[in-house]
Amino acid sequence: MQSLHEAVGGEPFFRALVHEFYERVWADDVLRPMYPQDDRAGAEERFRMFLEQYWGGPQTYSEQRGHPRLRMRHAPFSVDPDARERWLAAMRGALDALDPAPLHRAELDEYFERAATAMLNRNPLI
Ligand code: HEM
Repeated sequence: MQSLHEAVGGEPFFRALVHEFYERVWADDVLRPMYPQDDRAGAEERFRMFLEQYWGGPQTYSEQRGHPRLRMRHAPFSVDPDARERWLAAMRGALDALDPAPLHRAELDEYFERAATAMLNRNPLI
């Protein structure tokens, strides 16, 4: 069966998606300070390689970075519900800009919602 990676157009799609996403992250006052200020290109590359791998493309992320262990890698950042919502808003904006076919859009939306929930690591009430 064709992977989603292939169905949406492969690397160029993910490169553009991640670029649009970081445009929005860099415009967000809460998210931007969390990211490496002088290594946006590196951050774009890490996220793009991860997404390509996840959706059935080349496995370059794991070759370069090892096991994703995403919750552990996010532990230093304060991912509370507000940060999660801002992150998802940036991703939805990026997806709006790329406008993949409805079936792929639904799959991507569902995945990002779930993954962003899994990344929550701060409770603002305590
Ligand atoms: C890395 C924030 C959710 C995947 C990072 C980094 C930050 C961050 C600050 C460091 C940037 C870098 O140097 O690469 C957040 C916040 C989230 C969130 C605030 C809110 C929910 C997610 C989700 C995914 C994800 C849902 C997966 C779908 C990644 C990956 C990296 C990363 C793959 C690079 C890990 C590496 O070092 O290899 N994130 N993230 N993040 N994030 Fe997130």
